[in-house]
Amino acid sequence: MFDFAPSSDMPKPLLYAELAQSAASLVEGEPDPVANMANLAALIWLSVPSLNWAGFYRAIDDELVLGPFIGKPACIRIPFGQGVCGTAAASGATQLVPDVHAFPGHIACDAASRSELVVPVMVGGRVRAVIDLDSPELERFDQEDADGMERVAAVAARFL
Ligand code: SME
Repeated sequence: MFDFAPSSDMPKPLLYAELAQSAASLVEGEPDPVANMANLAALIWLSVPSLNWAGFYRAIDDELVLGPFIGKPACIRIPFGQGVCGTAAASGATQLVPDVHAFPGHIACDAASRSELVVPVMVGGRVRAVIDLDSPELERFDQEDADGMERVAAVAARFL
């Protein structure tokens, strides 16, 4: 049985250390990427406070295609270079967006989203997927969230 239960007042470095460890345990020995992405999306959703969307987009040719997620139904295909997710995919760099309305070309899948964090999953120097987190709170994410989610992305790189 899965019993990871982070407390909401946990310091972020500790929360993400435990999240990364739980993520590694969840995917260990399981090669199926859909099952692992689905479990990681659920784990992130349960662990990271104040989210309205959490999940994966997979890099297929030169676009991102929706993968397992929790949240409202979202746009299915995002070309590299477009929106926050496509910018992360094209650059290979984490995108920390304090206010989505101030990000040129932001793609609104859920009107409630106010801030966003997108972390690329790199395998062999190439972007294989991105992990996208949306929050209804302005300035919800900071560098500690970005660092922490990069640890989770490193776990996802093991099976993608
Ligand atoms: N806001 C994203 C699109 C994906 S949804 O947030 C789930 C973007 O601008 O790329």
